[in-house]
Amino acid sequence: MNVVVSQNVKDSIDVNNLPAHVAVIMDGNGRWAKQQGFKDRIFGHRHAIAAVRETIEGCGELGIKYLTLYAFSTENWNRPAAEVKALMSLLVSAIHDELPGMMKNQIRLKAIGDLASLPKSSQKELQSAMDQTAANKGLTLVLALSYSGKWDLTQATQKIAQKVAAGEIAALDVDANVINAHLSTAGMPDPDLMIRTGGDHRISNFMLWQLAYAELYIFEELFWPDFRKVNLHQAIVDFQMRERRFGKTSEQVKREG
Ligand code: IPE
Ligand code: IPE
Ligand code: MG
Repeated sequence: MNVVVSQNVKDSIDVNNLPAHVAVIMDGNGRWAKQQGFKDRIFGHRHAIAAVRETIEGCGELGIKYLTLYAFSTENWNRPAAEVKALMSLLVSAIHDELPGMMKNQIRLKAIGDLASLPKSSQKELQSAMDQTAANKGLTLVLALSYSGKWDLTQATQKIAQKVAAGEIAALDVDANVINAHLSTAGMPDPDLMIRTGGDHRISNFMLWQLAYAELYIFEELFWPDFRKVNLHQAIVDFQMRERRFGKTSEQVKREG
């Protein structure tokens, strides 16, 4: 896509109707590598970093507040050991390399997931980057690592059950707000827009609770390493054309403006 066309897509975005939180299932790295003639899937993961950078920059430029990237799922631990190892070392080097850019662009890094299950070196690099960017005021970039929706709901349930057992919360006071406050995403708005590349129409155990009313946008033909700002813009333009009814009728939504 040429520069003129991509600028047009960006110009049609209504900056007063942006998703507060964009979540992305970055899928298709392995198929991309194969398509390019690489034998090793890891080439796809390496080329994914450019797409990550574009997405972060694109969200930052528009003034989007939260971006969550699904980088490694609970189930991804079941992949071949060599691929898991390569992904973990890529994580460390990518965070290290991207840190100056995150500081320059005021990006605050966060992570959600079973972080204790990551190799010590990944935990250290991640923690250090989170500490250094903690006071940044721009985009909050959330990496979902060793994350799954079922893991998140399980850990939240355990914490709530402990509080109920200790008499800090009454069982019948456990409501959606209490659950929200114990999920790893506590304090963040739910994603308004969820993008998935690679053509699969599924959630793959991503934010099961938080995606309750997210608008889904699937890139049928695009693998993650090829994702660029213009694709983010496309998804946002499409998001802005949708009527979000949250259970109400279309007439009600129009009347309420
Ligand atoms: C997404 O790409 C990256 C991770 C899950 C870590 P895949 O590695 O799943 O690529 P495909 O879906 O096999 O093409
Ligand atoms: C989802 O992709 C997880 C991430 C992008 C991290 P997968 O490639 O693991 O999803 P499935 O297995 O095809 O559902
Ligand atoms: Mg995949």
